[in-house]
Amino acid sequence: MRRSMAARAIASISSRLSLTERMASGHAAGDWIRTAKGRDVYSGMTTAPTSVAGARTARVIDLRSDTVTRPSEEMLKAMAQAEVGDDVYGEDPTVAALEARAAETLGKEAAVFVPTGTQSNLVAMLAHCQRGDEYIVGDCYHIYRDEGGGPSVLGGVSSCPLPTNDRGELSVEAVAAAIKVDDPHYAMTRLICLENTVHGHIQNRITTHRIGELARSHGLAIHLDGARLMNASIASGQPVRELAQAADTVSVCLSKGLGAPAGSVLCGSAGLIRRARRARKLLGGAMRQSGFLAACGLYALEHNVERLADDHRRARLLAVNLAAFERLTVDLAATETNMVFVTPLPEHHGPLREHLSGDAILTGAQSPTIRLVTHLDISDDDIEQVLDSFRRFYRS
Ligand SMILES: Cc1ncc(COP(=O)(O)O)c(C=O)c1O
Repeated sequence: MRRSMAARAIASISSRLSLTERMASGHAAGDWIRTAKGRDVYSGMTTAPTSVAGARTARVIDLRSDTVTRPSEEMLKAMAQAEVGDDVYGEDPTVAALEARAAETLGKEAAVFVPTGTQSNLVAMLAHCQRGDEYIVGDCYHIYRDEGGGPSVLGGVSSCPLPTNDRGELSVEAVAAAIKVDDPHYAMTRLICLENTVHGHIQNRITTHRIGELARSHGLAIHLDGARLMNASIASGQPVRELAQAADTVSVCLSKGLGAPAGSVLCGSAGLIRRARRARKLLGGAMRQSGFLAACGLYALEHNVERLADDHRRARLLAVNLAAFERLTVDLAATETNMVFVTPLPEHHGPLREHLSGDAILTGAQSPTIRLVTHLDISDDDIEQVLDSFRRFYRS
């Protein structure tokens, strides 16, 4: 019975309905529906993004983020065949296998599987810090800017955000100056948070190493938000465990470029991961038969790391071709991995996105610079179609 429900869920996730099918279904999110082709799908997972309503073509090319991928047939097979148990009892062999594999890959002693990157960062913060402690962080990093202030709200941990350079890097000198002396007036500096990649930029290894040394010399720890660390590794040719070396804990997302439907792994020493597990339970992130999700994560680590090079190549192809458009500014240096940043003239921003959306091409909503992200579900043909759509916009 449990398997058949899983198979049903799998069918819903995997279904790649055409836009026309999705729009024609007209169902509210949350309904089970039968499509014209006789497939049972959960409409909550397949409803067309509203911004492509009225699109001229059926297949959606979604460049908003690498989080939008759907699991491949092979990944779903691995999911359906997963051996599972109750992971809260520590009895799920697939979760255990994923954690062991992640720890090994990242060169750390242990790992814990968590539902999201946000929770992975948060449990790391709670493992490192007590109430009244403080963490130093780049002011554009996800953990500081995009996670609801979780460490402060839930952990009583205050932040010391520092500006970064245009590649998202902290200055070693600024970090050194921000470390507080032990004085009752001040929060206790406990942790330095890094990120790699930052908005697609691979972080400088020497700077990371120097911040690591600085941290050690002050008895501080380092947490690395490596949501896209595999992208940094593949694009730079540096082994991922070397990129994680300076960090006491490192979080890697399985649900971004690696293509799993959910999940992140936090890796670190056995002691820190034990504390992170306690925090995960506290936050409601300990799951039961999560081996079904861990199987996707294992599949992703085994099959979807090397292929990130394809995403990077496609991003480059897109960036280089878009740079040729006179009325579009493309920061070519910013495309180091799978992200492309284009700035149209202010008066073109809305009409351009609308035109692309009419061709069922979804782009980031950022303004004035639009972000385009390549991923597992973007092919060479898609890149050609995107370029063609840009050409038609600028020709008209
Ligand atoms: C750099 C970075 N860290 C963490 C996260 C959080 O991941 P999740 O959306 O799984 O919570 C994201 C999400 O986009 C991210 O880009």
